[in-house]
Amino acid sequence: MRFEICTLFPEFFHSFFTTGLVARAVDNGILSYAIHNLRLHGEGRYRSVDDAPFGGGAGMLLKYDVIRKSLEATGERPVIHLTPRGRVLNTSMAKRLASLPGVTLLCGHYEGIDQRILDRAVGMEVSIGDYVLGGGETPAQVLIETIARHLPGFLTEASLEAESFESGLLEHDQFTRPREADGVPVPGVLVEGDPKRIAAWQRENALWRTWRRRPDLFARQTLADCDFDAIHGKIVTHFSIRPQETP
Ligand code: ADE
Repeated sequence: MRFEICTLFPEFFHSFFTTGLVARAVDNGILSYAIHNLRLHGEGRYRSVDDAPFGGGAGMLLKYDVIRKSLEATGERPVIHLTPRGRVLNTSMAKRLASLPGVTLLCGHYEGIDQRILDRAVGMEVSIGDYVLGGGETPAQVLIETIARHLPGFLTEASLEAESFESGLLEHDQFTRPREADGVPVPGVLVEGDPKRIAAWQRENALWRTWRRRPDLFARQTLADCDFDAIHGKIVTHFSIRPQETP
C-alpha cells in the first residue's frame, strides 16, 4: 500500500519509516511512501503557507492554493485529512482502508485549513481521539501503523488475532521469565502446560479486563453463557468489596 504524505514537517517521518516493523514492511515492499513538503508550494519570498482567518479568530489557516498544489503533486488517491474534527479511528476503519492500493494523508497545522480545499479535495477526515495535538503528523503515523497491521505480511496472523480489539475484547495479561518476580508468581495455570486450561484462563482474563476498563466494549459483545459464568464470581466479589463504586 502506498502512502503519500503532505506535511510542513517532513523530518517528523524519517525515524518512523526507518525503525522497527514499519521499516521492515518498507524493505519488503508491503508499504511504500513519499513525503511532500507543503512549504515548497508556499507563496512569496518567505514561502508563506498560512494567513489569518476571515471573520477573525485565533491563529492562522493553511491556504487553499498551497494545499491544492501539494495534493496535485501526489497523484489521484483518496485524500484523508487528519483533524480532531474527523471520524474517530478504530479497527474496522483501519481494515477498510487497508484494502485500498493507497491514500494521501494531509497533515494540518496551525488552526486549520481553508474549508474550500477540504470540500473540494478531501474524501475523509480522521481523528485519532478526542484531544487536540499541534499537528497531523503524529496522527498520520498512528493511522499508517494501524492500517499497516492489516496488510498481508506485516504481522503474523496469530499475533494480529491475539491483539486487543481483534476479538472485540482487550488483550489478556502476559508474563515472561522469571517465574517469580519480587515474590509475585506467574499464574500457575500458564506454567502447567495444559493448552485448554491456558486458553480458558486467557479468555476469562480478557473478559474481566474488558468488563472493568471498557464497559462500552464489553456491552457490545455477544457472549456465550460460559463467558458470563467465567467472570461472574469476580463481578460479585467486586461489588461486595466496593458496593458503592460503579464499574
Ligand atoms: N490534529 C490535531 N489533533 C488531532 C487529532 N486528535 N486527531 C487527528 N488529527 C489531529
